[in-house]
Parts: sequence; structure tokens; C-alpha cells
Amino acid sequence: MARNSQSLQGETLGQEVKASRRSLPREGGVTLTFHFEDRAITAREGQSVAAALIAAGIRSWRIDESGHHKGALCCIGYCFECRCRIDGEADRRACLTEVQEGMRVERQIGLR
Ligand code: FES
Repeated sequence: MARNSQSLQGETLGQEVKASRRSLPREGGVTLTFHFEDRAITAREGQSVAAALIAAGIRSWRIDESGHHKGALCCIGYCFECRCRIDGEADRRACLTEVQEGMRVERQIGLR
């Protein structure tokens, strides 16, 4: 009986983890257009900004205080390397932000 209970808890946890993943776009879903600086980027509904930028061939969307180019590293919201300016707001994590139609993403330089 305890074995069945543990198995059931494991399945429930697994389902929650799957449901919480935000960067997995739906195949054949709605496409959205957003802008990275002056470039129009097409993404799929549900895709993270980081995933959409990488799919478009863009690997750097922040230049740190030492002049190093930064992009996605962990892709799970832990490292903060993917910070960029989204709709005028600095320090938004691209890996945790879902693309929205008309969103404006800009390279963040230093702390701004
Ligand atoms: S890539 Fe690490 S927080 Fe976004």
C-alpha cells in the first residue's frame, strides 16, 4: 500500500513539473512577432524570449560591466545571465519571460 502511495506521489510531482515548464512551445501553435532592437523575430506562442532569440541565431542580449557578451546559460531562472531590457524594463530574465505579441526586447548594457 505504501509503495502505491509513493508511486502516485511521484506521478503527481512529475505532472506538476511538466505543467510548470514555460519555454516549451506548442508544435503548430500560434506564431507571434516581437522585436529585438530593430529586428522583427517570429516566435511560437508559449516560447520563452531566450528560446526565440536563440532560434533566430541571436546568442548575446546583454553586455556586462566588463564588456563581455552574455546570453542564456542555465535556462531555468537561476543564473541571471540572460537579463535584458523588455518593454523598457531592465533585468528581465529572458529564459523566464514568455514572448508576447509586439514585445520589445533590447540588449542590456551594464546595469541598464
Ligand atoms: S539563463 Fe540563467 S536565469 Fe536565464
